[in-house]
Amino acid sequence: VPVWLDVNVGMNRTGSPPGAWEHARDRLPAARHVSIVGLHGYDGHLTWDQREQAHVGYDALCRLARALPRPPRWIVTSGTHSYAHALAHAGLADGPWVHQVSPGTILLSDLRSHEAARDLGLQQGAFVASRVVSTPCPDRVTLDAGSKAVSPDRPAPNCRVLGHPELEPQRPSEEHLPLQVRAGTMAPAPGTVLWLVPEHVCTTVNLYRRALWLRGDAIVGEGAVEAMSHPLWADDPTSR
Ligand SMILES: Cc1ncc(COP(=O)(O)O)c(C=O)c1O
Repeated sequence: VPVWLDVNVGMNRTGSPPGAWEHARDRLPAARHVSIVGLHGYDGHLTWDQREQAHVGYDALCRLARALPRPPRWIVTSGTHSYAHALAHAGLADGPWVHQVSPGTILLSDLRSHEAARDLGLQQGAFVASRVVSTPCPDRVTLDAGSKAVSPDRPAPNCRVLGHPELEPQRPSEEHLPLQVRAGTMAPAPGTVLWLVPEHVCTTVNLYRRALWLRGDAIVGEGAVEAMSHPLWADDPTSR
């Protein structure tokens, strides 16, 4: 049975610490039908400037890989905010294994991943279109894009208004996002369309069944967001 070990490299979300797996190693020869083919260590808790902390985790991962009866064929680490740390780690690069990184956010990008996007020469790829639906007081306007429309898992401000740094997103309610209008600047009129850049794109795209493809100002197509929501039954494709 090919087996992957999930290694807790400091995120404390899933897996077991490298020491626990090393301890378990002594029982492995008894498990004749088990072959450890890969190690997985995801460090999604780290940021773009935490290389030192990231390398502590990768050092431990490499030590574990070399302590196994046979080195694994693969080591998988790192999402958008730490893939560059992993690719710069000599130990991960030098082993008899294939090292892969697994960034996902970078595909569409969001406010948190702009350093990674710059690093790869990518641009923000997903926006939420919203409209000014109310002007409740002189220094506020309200958009129709609340927590059901953008980054529901992030504290305020959970997005930015593209091209409008003078509009500061406040705490959203379910259907509404109030914007504070900076003193001395013009508030957008009711009906104005504004584009929002999500703080977290993964939890934003999950809110939509379909997406429009844009090139410049033109809509050039649309498609289903196939990864949205959860199927009710694991083996039922119709519940998607
Ligand atoms: C195990 C695992 N790998 C990879 C990713 C992708 O990482 P990122 O969203 O930082 O690109 C995630 C995201 O949550 C994850 O949980």
